[in-house]
Amino acid sequence: MVPQIRWSHSHSGGYVFHNPGHYDVQPAYKSDGWNTDPWTLVEDAQGRLLGRGSTDDKAPVISWLFVIEAHQKLGLDFPVNLKMCFEGMEESGSEGLDDIIHQEAKAYFKDVDCVCISDNYWLGTNKPCLTYGLRGVSYFHLKVTGPGKDLHSGVFGGTVHEPMTDLIHLMGKLVTPDGKILVPGIMDDVAPVTEAENSLYQGLDFTLNDIYGATESKTTIFDTEREVLMARWRFPSLSLHGVEGAFYNPGDKTVIPAKVIGKFSIRSVPNQEPEKITQLVKDHINAEFAKLNSKNTIDIACSHGGKCWVADVNHWNFVAAANAVQRVFNAKPDYTREGGSIPVTLTFQDALQKNVLLLPMGRSDDGAHSTNEKIDKFNFIEGIKLLSTYLHEVSAQS
Ligand code: BES
Ligand code: ZN
Repeated sequence: MVPQIRWSHSHSGGYVFHNPGHYDVQPAYKSDGWNTDPWTLVEDAQGRLLGRGSTDDKAPVISWLFVIEAHQKLGLDFPVNLKMCFEGMEESGSEGLDDIIHQEAKAYFKDVDCVCISDNYWLGTNKPCLTYGLRGVSYFHLKVTGPGKDLHSGVFGGTVHEPMTDLIHLMGKLVTPDGKILVPGIMDDVAPVTEAENSLYQGLDFTLNDIYGATESKTTIFDTEREVLMARWRFPSLSLHGVEGAFYNPGDKTVIPAKVIGKFSIRSVPNQEPEKITQLVKDHINAEFAKLNSKNTIDIACSHGGKCWVADVNHWNFVAAANAVQRVFNAKPDYTREGGSIPVTLTFQDALQKNVLLLPMGRSDDGAHSTNEKIDKFNFIEGIKLLSTYLHEVSAQS
């Protein structure tokens, strides 16, 4: 797809490999609360580029191509050898990609020196960061099946075990309103916070106002920056996402749904293992369900279980990125972890045994997965310069 790249003769000949990110996106409907059509890219008066996937992850993906195009048009030698991997199922757990990465570790990905993924965001709205950790995610479907078909609640209400009632009860046993996970044993493998680690939370470009801005609310569980960041980066969390099969349209419908599926996920941290999380969740739900004496049946399935990832920031890959931030933004980057998950990050690190870096373009208030997702034109353009400068800095390291 990319013709006539002039490779720099001075380069050592190894490859730098880039997973430029993913071109798939989350769903979006204008009725979710978008001000514009989510599927039409719109630039507003403040220079924000609005549209589903603008920050997550289309701007970073296309930016790698702009970097190549800029070198071609300017007649510049490309500083490194580049291998690409465009991903189209990141938002649904990267089904199948893990196997391919392992299969190709000694083939397509042979000679790769380092990996860089741009699929995350600055911590705040002003300062670039380099990201060295992500949480893992285990996604669950809890199905409760009862009557053979939907029923009239006037005729059958009070006479049958209702699947929704069982489900709401069980989902209420998963997490407290202040975020405490109720699954017994879930915290047992969480690595203790060390003294040295505490200092990492000082001096970061992050205030409570950043999270108030990003959430458009003041609904944080914690009231200090450290606690907020630790809750996001360092500890597991359990979120309830939705109920398939439940009545959700406007208006009143007096129905007893026959089968409902509750969706929830757990974000995991070192040293938690997805297999153990699944077992603990199943044991807990089965035990709680047994207490109900319900004649309905349940089924619990983990649809995706991905492990967390932490990288070594002392590696030359991070040094190259920090130098690039200094050159483009005249600033030292913050070193951050994140609460979200990118399944292939750990896969690349493990399968290739190479350092993986996350180099974000967008800001914390971009609204990935949310309504009115945007990337600021400033971040987009400076981000392209950053990716390009990073490649030159990588070349200077070798
Ligand atoms: N860009 C995000 C990952 C991310 C989120 C990085 C927040 C930093 C902060 C990515 O596109 C994403 O949303 N991943 C999914 C993966 C899941 C479906 C396996 C996620 O985290 O929910
Ligand atoms: Zn995403």
